Amino acid sequence: MCGIVGYIGKRDVAPLLLEGLQRLEYRGYDSAGIVIAGKSGGLKAVKAKGRVRELEARVPKRFAGTTGIAHTRWATHGAPSDVNAHPHLDTEGKVAVVHNGIVDNASELRAKLEADGVVFASETDSEVITHLIARSQAASLEEKVREALKVIEGTYGIAVMHADFPDRIVAARNGSPVVLGIGEKEMFVASDVAALISHTRQVVTLDDGETATLKADDFRTYTTSGTRTTATPETVEWEAASYDMGGHDTYMHKEICEQPDAVDRVLRGRIDDKFSTVHLGGLNLDAREARGIRRVKILGCGTSYHAGMIGASLVEGLARIPADSEPASEFRYRNPVVDPDTLYIAVSQSGETYDVLAAVQELKRKGARVLGVVNVVGSAIARETDGGVYVHAGPEVCVVSTKCFTNTVVAFALLALHLGRIRDLSVADGKRIIEGLRALPEQIQEILAQEEDIKKLAAEYAEAKSMMFIGRVRGYPVALEASLKLKEISYIHAEAYPASELKHGPLALIEPAMPTVAIVPDDSLLEKNRAAMEEIKARSGRILAVAHREQEKADHTILVPKNEDELDPILMGIPLQLLAYHTALALGRDIDKPRNLAKSVTVE
Ligand code: F6R
Repeated sequence: MCGIVGYIGKRDVAPLLLEGLQRLEYRGYDSAGIVIAGKSGGLKAVKAKGRVRELEARVPKRFAGTTGIAHTRWATHGAPSDVNAHPHLDTEGKVAVVHNGIVDNASELRAKLEADGVVFASETDSEVITHLIARSQAASLEEKVREALKVIEGTYGIAVMHADFPDRIVAARNGSPVVLGIGEKEMFVASDVAALISHTRQVVTLDDGETATLKADDFRTYTTSGTRTTATPETVEWEAASYDMGGHDTYMHKEICEQPDAVDRVLRGRIDDKFSTVHLGGLNLDAREARGIRRVKILGCGTSYHAGMIGASLVEGLARIPADSEPASEFRYRNPVVDPDTLYIAVSQSGETYDVLAAVQELKRKGARVLGVVNVVGSAIARETDGGVYVHAGPEVCVVSTKCFTNTVVAFALLALHLGRIRDLSVADGKRIIEGLRALPEQIQEILAQEEDIKKLAAEYAEAKSMMFIGRVRGYPVALEASLKLKEISYIHAEAYPASELKHGPLALIEPAMPTVAIVPDDSLLEKNRAAMEEIKARSGRILAVAHREQEKADHTILVPKNEDELDPILMGIPLQLLAYHTALALGRDIDKPRNLAKSVTVE
């Protein structure tokens, strides 16, 4: 949600920052801006509503400088516009601030500043930070920033420049990620390593409450009260190339196609054939503790919540521990009973989603044990949890999640197998699941090989105004996720129901213009699913089935290879990612950056 990039060094800063913004655009893309320290002193700013390319077109040829900060926005306070775009400058044009997060007490601070004669240029909450810094009488920029942050309530990741302190950029973090990139006589600051990884892989991730000063040849980190902290740079694991499109037309397509390799990665080094189990290094949960778990509660949002639903059924099925998944955003507002015998699991691709993070913090405050199933190493949720499983999907750049969904479910299968083998899952069942897991990458490849056929189907279904997705038990989260994917990128209205619920109401919607996608695995519910398709056919509904064998009642069937019943949901979702993709493509949608959405929802 919003992207920040800043640079101080010797290179021409504008092209560097524009390139960084392009890489961050998936975090927000309704407006963008850049400010640099001009060669002859003073700050120079350019802002533009729209995509980064709009901004690039506005940056004048002579826009030389070697220090600057830039931002790409996803609007929360104030509509997308030139003036609401960051950086925000004070009235004299001496202070510039880029901000991610939300200032909760912005209206109150704004009223006070206005009463003191400050004239605001934008409608944003972020602009108050600029004026507070500009009005501070403190001697150093660091102290001015600290003074301003003392009165701010809310979340922030900020980078600040000041014309009177042209040798530095000051950054600070509270709830919105900030990373420093350490180069050779040059330093970067960003909200995400994507913006700096092509220049350096040495990074320092700021903790909440930390501030940093970046100079071309030095960086220092401090607590909010100004005490020095020690920060040792770490090497980022992900390669710069994994942020490129790699010959695909969109990141979504690339990420769908990467799934065989991604699944291979989440399995690698974790399977223990001798004991038919898996090793999960970072779990921090010994066998005695694992045996004491009475319930598992999984918390996530959107796609991660759906992955958690499949995760819950894996935990319940393999480890025989009652488990369920709940949207983190709902959980934290219902004053839940926090039970010491429940294992809580926070699921997040980005590791930044505010609702998930806040739920983790609430649980920890109440003494719960919380694990993370997270993709981004070192992210806020990964740090806040007591241990967990990294899903190793690699960077996911498309706003909608595909490969990370699949890897998250596989990570849950590993966790469920681990818990199961400590409790009462047999060696034979352990072996069976391990074989199933090992078969996944090749089976995913088989599904991807059907892309041309799925594309033809998508062309037929793209005419629909509305679509229904149904599945039962294990198939239901697959239906939910497939319907979310379709609506996010094609803007076709889609609903998902348990097939068993059809006759309790949604059947009223069925007619030829409302096609249904049915998840029909070859398991104990096959006949029940067939009966649901009969009901739809009897109302002249069109059906596209995703199944292990041809379905007579369906107008079309996409065949997927059979795995173990427990692991089938992993495979059944994949053709539906391709269906959503090709439907959106046929409708000419902006697939990687769907309207109104942004990756990493770091605000409430
Ligand atoms: C959908 C999608 C979102 C995210 C959700 C949680 O395609 O990507 O629904 O799954 O915003 O994000 P993370 O997993 O980063 O916590």
